[in-house]
Amino acid sequence: MAAVRVAAVAVLLAVVAVAAAALNTDGLALLALKFAVTDDPGSGLDTWRDADADPCSWAGVTCVDGGGGRVAGVELANLSLAGYLPSELSLLSELETLSLPANRLSGQIPVAISALQKLTTLDLAHNFLSGQIPAGIGRLASLSRLDLSSNQLNGTLPPSIAGLPSLSGVLNLSYNHFVGGIPPEFGGIPVAVSLDLRGNDLAGEIPQVGSLVNQGPTAFDDNPRLCGFPLKIECAGEREEPRIPQSNNGMNPGAAAEVGRPPKHRSSPTVPILAVIVVAAIVAGLVLQWQCRRRCAATTRNEDKESSTKEKSAAVTLAGTEERRGGGEEGELFVAVDDGFGMELEELLRASAYVVGKSRGGIVYRVVPGRGTAVAVRRLSEPDDGDGTESGWRRRRAFETEAAAIGRARHPNVARLRAYYYAPDEKLLIYDYLGNGSLHSALHGGPTASPTPLPWSVRLSIVQGAARGLAYLHECSPRRYVHGCIKSSKILLDDELRPHVSGFGLARLVAGAHKTAQSRKLGGAACALRSGALSALSYVAPELRAPGGTAAAATQKGDVFAFGVVLLEAVTGRQPTEGEGGLELEAWVRRAFKEERPLSEVVDPSLLGEVHAKKQVLAVFHVALGCTEPDPELRPRMRAVAESLDRVN
Ligand SMILES: *[C@@H]1O[C@H](CO)[C@@H](O)[C@H](O)[C@H]1NC(C)=O
Ligand SMILES: *[C@@H]1O[C@H](CO)[C@@H](O)[C@H](O)[C@H]1NC(C)=O
Ligand SMILES: *[C@@H]1O[C@H](CO)[C@@H](O)[C@H](O)[C@H]1NC(C)=O
Ligand SMILES: *[C@@H]1O[C@H](CO)[C@@H](O)[C@H](O)[C@H]1NC(C)=O
Repeated sequence: MAAVRVAAVAVLLAVVAVAAAALNTDGLALLALKFAVTDDPGSGLDTWRDADADPCSWAGVTCVDGGGGRVAGVELANLSLAGYLPSELSLLSELETLSLPANRLSGQIPVAISALQKLTTLDLAHNFLSGQIPAGIGRLASLSRLDLSSNQLNGTLPPSIAGLPSLSGVLNLSYNHFVGGIPPEFGGIPVAVSLDLRGNDLAGEIPQVGSLVNQGPTAFDDNPRLCGFPLKIECAGEREEPRIPQSNNGMNPGAAAEVGRPPKHRSSPTVPILAVIVVAAIVAGLVLQWQCRRRCAATTRNEDKESSTKEKSAAVTLAGTEERRGGGEEGELFVAVDDGFGMELEELLRASAYVVGKSRGGIVYRVVPGRGTAVAVRRLSEPDDGDGTESGWRRRRAFETEAAAIGRARHPNVARLRAYYYAPDEKLLIYDYLGNGSLHSALHGGPTASPTPLPWSVRLSIVQGAARGLAYLHECSPRRYVHGCIKSSKILLDDELRPHVSGFGLARLVAGAHKTAQSRKLGGAACALRSGALSALSYVAPELRAPGGTAAAATQKGDVFAFGVVLLEAVTGRQPTEGEGGLELEAWVRRAFKEERPLSEVVDPSLLGEVHAKKQVLAVFHVALGCTEPDPELRPRMRAVAESLDRVN
């Protein structure tokens, strides 16, 4: 049946895929910012569309000369944007200017911002940012201008700011709520830098060192408890000694207390922005279907059933050896979610396909077309077939709805759905192929694992990214999506070992549309049961391990628990079932901490050599223990987990 169907699809794709490439990572990172903006009264971000290949044409965005679509500047001043700064901004590794003054941004400055090594200007003045300045800001080697004035920032001044090697323009920290003394390190700030510390709650004597001696009094005005030259207020003896903040203040990675604290002002996006995205996606989908139906309607129905048992040997094709003829069956659908997806259905079905995995969701193939890059195709296992055609239409609609929802989840750390195919006897999801296995194979070995153990820095950046991806899934829709099957094997790695959370939405797709609403919300225990692997049960939160095994619905708190187990895998290097004394990993680690056993007994032996990482490892342990709290109410939200991990730096 392929011939006619393929002709139809080919025409369809010719219409759709105007050779536009998919939005690049920088674009996705900026979409994360757009998503974090809850109010955009001036429609300043309306030109930020995910249909573009790169963000270079978006309002306020400038790109690096010489192409590549890398972002060099984001300048959005005075737009009254409300929302928060997502850590995804740290992916803009070519960014030189981040200028967002005079908006209504709240929440904390993401710790991950210290990854922006090319940043020269950081201007966040006149917002509602709160919390401490991340000490990692001191690592921004290129930063020459830093303006954080007129916010709600508090805590002490991190001495590391004074060590910014390229600081030359402005260091404006005025009109915040900073407390404590002025660190003597600030004497090392070049005289040419305009220092402004006005309007804070700084206290004690101004250290008489370096450039601080040469500052005019205005730099220190409106700090009632500050004294000494150049102010006219004399210090009253010994008791008013300046308090020197600890050097690692704010960088303290063991800040376990932070874990449980939900971030401020992290509301889900307002309806208008989301509605625009949703409506756009729906319109695109409808156009596609309409075109498909128009063309398909002219063809005849001639389906020959074919079993799908050819995937045993090395390479097969998805179409099998027999010619698939006919097509145009009512209810058949091939949709490119992504304009950039140029592969045709026939190409897909005929290309060599290699089995790379099997799971509850069906079999996953790596499909290598004649030209172009490999894709991963997930052939969904059939739920239960053979009921009346009456429900067929409804099943297709339900599939479309869920597949479209998966397709809308666009984030640098979420596996990207490129296209999907639906026929009553065949359901395919087509993703980017990620060639470097999963966190599971990287930690515990496997066919794609490298022989050397994963270094700590790589493990940390993998779990940080995965946390962001999962936080995005939890928050990207008012439906409050649940992944339902988080485990280390679902965190796929690309060539640069960046993590991509996969398997999102499968629970609902596999459950099928014609089942009851209750069973569509597949529980975590059900995920474990279907996968067949015993280890999968170790990821299931205690409250979801219902006596029947399948009764409980999957929850976001359940995802957080499972992610905590993944964190424990990363720090211990053990499988989730591999605790000692007959315990599961989570219970064993919890007990070891309670008994205050030495860290060396629980940490992956291959990490013990990395002495410098000890603090970070400990901090991740604490985050993991917070995630796996037996009481779901005590577990943090995923966004808070992601932020805590970003703070481990
Ligand atoms: C900010 O925008 C408002 C109105 O949009 C305008 O009146 C005001 O002058 C602008 N301020 C600055 C500093 O650009
Ligand atoms: C700083 O501000 C945050 C949020 O506004 C608040 O939770 C925290 O207690 C404050 N810290 C200090 C030391 O004032
Ligand atoms: C620092 O920021 C404040 C408020 O945003 C502004 O009034 C002041 O002029 C700035 N100081 C310098 C030295 O630029
Ligand atoms: C996986 O990642 C490693 C380390 O970055 C790299 O050397 C290797 O080539 C990657 N493997 C594949 C198949 O891309």
